[in-house]
Amino acid sequence: MKFSIKAKDPAKLDVDILIMFAAKGDVLQAISLGAEVNKLIKEMADQEEFKANEKESLIVHTKGAITPYKLLIAGTGKEVDFDLLKLRKVVARASKKAKENNPKKIAICLPIHWLNKFNTQEVAQATVEAVSLSTYQFLKYKSEKEKKKNRQIEECIIQVTPGKIIQVEKGLNVGQIVAKATCFARDLVNEPANKMTPALLAKKALDIGKKSQKQVKVKVFEEKEIEKFEMGAYLGVSQGSAQKPKFIHLEYKPKNPVYKIVLVGKGITFDTGGLSIKTSKGMESMKMDMAGAAAVLSIFSAIAKISCNVHLVGLIAACENMPSSRALKPGDILKAANGKTIEVVNTDAEGRLTLADVLSFATDKEKPDAIIDIATLTGACMVALGLSIAGLWSNDEKLKEKLIAAAEISGEKVWPMPLESEYKKLIKSDVADLSNVGKGRYAGAIAASLFLKEFVGEDIAWAHIDIAGPAFYQEATSLIPKGGSGFGVRLILHYLLNLSF
Ligand code: BES
Ligand code: ZN
Ligand code: ZN
Repeated sequence: MKFSIKAKDPAKLDVDILIMFAAKGDVLQAISLGAEVNKLIKEMADQEEFKANEKESLIVHTKGAITPYKLLIAGTGKEVDFDLLKLRKVVARASKKAKENNPKKIAICLPIHWLNKFNTQEVAQATVEAVSLSTYQFLKYKSEKEKKKNRQIEECIIQVTPGKIIQVEKGLNVGQIVAKATCFARDLVNEPANKMTPALLAKKALDIGKKSQKQVKVKVFEEKEIEKFEMGAYLGVSQGSAQKPKFIHLEYKPKNPVYKIVLVGKGITFDTGGLSIKTSKGMESMKMDMAGAAAVLSIFSAIAKISCNVHLVGLIAACENMPSSRALKPGDILKAANGKTIEVVNTDAEGRLTLADVLSFATDKEKPDAIIDIATLTGACMVALGLSIAGLWSNDEKLKEKLIAAAEISGEKVWPMPLESEYKKLIKSDVADLSNVGKGRYAGAIAASLFLKEFVGEDIAWAHIDIAGPAFYQEATSLIPKGGSGFGVRLILHYLLNLSF
């Protein structure tokens, strides 16, 4: 979708649908399109009993009274309750509603009181993100007929008052970059696992490098090299699959970086559970077990386009978790790259095995100031926080606070969780340094985090984001269709954009 800004009279915009917003009870007050249209709006609003409640919208055929063919008035609910999060939802709902009418060209009229109440740039960014993210669809494997039926909106004009153009432009630029990256992550996650193998994930990474005009350097380490790195835990997981592991290394290094951050993404392209096999229901959506990797790749696809003064490294240990005659067996003992031994009590706790080696690699070879890992790690985190909130663990208060602040602005929710050292006994093993699962039924997501902590250098600020819940939606929301959500892209890009030292 192409975005542009116009300060022209909205009544004269040559679009199929003009979207305007009204707060509860004042349908006509915010809309000044002339008496003729006002009459049409009033008639329609009375007929439909439209009160501009949140979630309500009204479509008015303008019958030539103004240039836009149709007018869509979206209710925003009570003015006092309106915030940026609501704004995203309201714009998303309005865009989806507009799309149902199959328009080629739409325009969104940003109310002046939004631009005065909130930071103008943030309003513009949130608007662009909401339009793109809510109208996203994955049609790659649908017939041409279906594709035509679900035609994407081609152009979206953001209409503003002239005085706000510069800030709106900034927001529009960043919003487009962030939305594009998020949709790229969704595409990667929605791709089925027979296509999205470790090899294809590696190719996607190499493509990002090629497109970046040498700003992002990408290397893919093959099995032999992974063996040289002594990543025994990662190799243990991948050994059951016919697909070879690919250890993906991305790097973005601006001229005078102020900070070095490593982003780690869980990249299991399919998680059957291995010999501790999942139920068929539990396996249905497991192509999404590389959603952390998808987020990391997408952040790299965007990083060179935003002003970010951070030396950024991305690491993904891509592989499949399969049962086979060569697969890991419960009771096997593996040695991770930092020398610690791990008893594999359950082969379905494979993500932490791959991450253990990557976190060791990041600590020893990259020596960064901070590491952030993002992973669809535990069903237990879903039990704790539900489907739309990610768990956040960190050994560093500042990093944790910054990520929480980024979550609030980006609209991707995280909740801080404890790295409770008293629970370390849960991951003790009788025969190795660590067990890959926590004893008993409780605190599974914390046990997984404590396990990861064993592989991170103590002097490194580290955050772990468990996205098992929000990575993949079974039901659509206003902003996120069914399937891959691209969770983490907006959150981490906002964090990187707003880093202050
Ligand atoms: N990939 C799963 C976690 C997951 C579950 C993500 C559901 C998204 C939705 C992970 O590898 C896993 O299987 N974890 C096990 C750990 C257990 C065996 C200790 C789990 O959470 O059940
Ligand atoms: Zn698993
Ligand atoms: Zn998994």
